[in-house]
Amino acid sequence: MSEKIAVRMSGIVKRFPGVIANDGVNFDAREGEVHALLGENGAGKSTLSNILTGLYRPDNGEIELNGESISFSSPRAALNAGIGMVHQHFRLVSSFTVAENVVLGDESTGTFLNAGDVAQKVEELSQRYNLAVDPRARVWQLSVGEQQRVEILKVLYRGARILILDEPTAVLTPQEADALFITLRAMVKEGRTVIFISHKLDEVMAVSDRVTVLRGGRTVGTIETAHSSRRELARLMVGREVVFDRVERKINSSDKETVLRVNAVSALDDRGNKALNDVSLTIKTGEVLGVAGVSGNGQRELAEVIAGMRHASAGTISVNEKEIPNGKVRHAISAGIAHVPEDRLHTGLASSHSIEDNLILKSYRTQPISRYSVLRRKAIQENASQLVEQYDVKTPSTETPVRLLSGGNVQKVLLAREFSANPKVLIAASPTRGLDVGAIENVRSHIVAAADSGVGVLLISEDLEELLSLSDRIVVLYEGRIVGDLPTSSATRESLGLLMGGVALEEHTS
Ligand SMILES: Nc1ncnc2c1ncn2[C@@H]1O[C@H](COP(=O)(O)OP(=O)(O)OP(=O)(O)O)[C@@H](O)[C@H]1O
Ligand SMILES: [Mg+2]
Repeated sequence: MSEKIAVRMSGIVKRFPGVIANDGVNFDAREGEVHALLGENGAGKSTLSNILTGLYRPDNGEIELNGESISFSSPRAALNAGIGMVHQHFRLVSSFTVAENVVLGDESTGTFLNAGDVAQKVEELSQRYNLAVDPRARVWQLSVGEQQRVEILKVLYRGARILILDEPTAVLTPQEADALFITLRAMVKEGRTVIFISHKLDEVMAVSDRVTVLRGGRTVGTIETAHSSRRELARLMVGREVVFDRVERKINSSDKETVLRVNAVSALDDRGNKALNDVSLTIKTGEVLGVAGVSGNGQRELAEVIAGMRHASAGTISVNEKEIPNGKVRHAISAGIAHVPEDRLHTGLASSHSIEDNLILKSYRTQPISRYSVLRRKAIQENASQLVEQYDVKTPSTETPVRLLSGGNVQKVLLAREFSANPKVLIAASPTRGLDVGAIENVRSHIVAAADSGVGVLLISEDLEELLSLSDRIVVLYEGRIVGDLPTSSATRESLGLLMGGVALEEHTS
């Protein structure tokens, strides 16, 4: 790694109404390094990267690129200067091919595109950086991991020297994340700079050269990764010692009654393809059933069918052995099903509404929130203040619109509403994705507490450690079918990994 500074940000200040998201942040990244940006939910990481990529203008402070002061009026201007962002929410055109997406919006290619040349260049880049993806495939055919590779190819194709990845591994399986790290190392080996935002301390330790920690909008410090440890990083991040104890769970005995029964359910995905194929499962009261699988194998559809958001083309769902009407959210809610969806801002919350209003979205018909059909503002405010405190939501007020919260705090609002609804069944889809270490422990202990109080939990997660530490039983979804159902005591990372990849266990035990 050279010592040459590629980009330096000094005294960056960015205010939003009621919040100082960046309060004099200092940050520099060198040529040829992976520089991790670490901080709790709401610490100001996304804001800082949005400033660097020209999406926001700072209220104060300076940016120097290769020693020269610079300011960007748009993301395009930043990209022209060699700074590219790989967004967590992909911006690809699904009916176009990979190669078409890569060149889309690139001015330098002009109007005379030679499809063959482009495909060849994309192929070269993907080989050089370990970004396996077929340039001729259409984006809708790709997995989430492959789509992310296309996003990376896009910025590389434009010649970016500095790449910012905002929580890139949140959507990846462990295997895909390992492959991404090889890509990142290959990029910095050539002198590029990678700014890597993550909450996962193991990843930061594994892939970065240096780490800058933000807390409350300020820089806490920058350290060499090799001279640090997970524990030190966690302490810098939250400002106190963090205990890494696992949430302990005693495995439930099996003589309880069945609270959720999914019987021979099939369903289509948004494109009309079969997403669930004859899925049956049961959850007993107080049981946590883990669902493992590479994302896109029917997890989302399973959660949606149970929550009444998606029509089942065959099969039935019952709560306490009482069948609930197919595809009706309201009936699912009144049967006691709570749902923390994967796609928080779009399906879980009304993002332009306040925290207060979002917290009563499901309970506004009941006391004490409403009485004789009249909403009681005071009760609504009290409800919100209490939950904001209990779930440690960082916000200027309970009247703040949800869309202005940081990613992790949005998730806390959603969890607070669903956990507090006294459900019989809780469907939690990747509930800790994007949360910082403190918040993850908090969510996990809420899941355990819910189960201990008798709630049947369906925990969908790609984090195998999470499944192994919280579930009583684990099923594996592959191409819309359940391909494995095992007690957690006899499951391992390896056996689950094989099932997730579609390898039947018998083939491997010989
Ligand atoms: N456009 C905006 N308008 C108002 N407030 C905002 C806006 N963007 C961010 N904020 C606030 O600024 C603070 C920092 O948010 P930011 O998104 O930068 O945090 P983060 O470190 O990326 O957090 P996370 O890990 O949860 O993604 C938060 O309090 C957030 O609510
Ligand atoms: Mg963020």
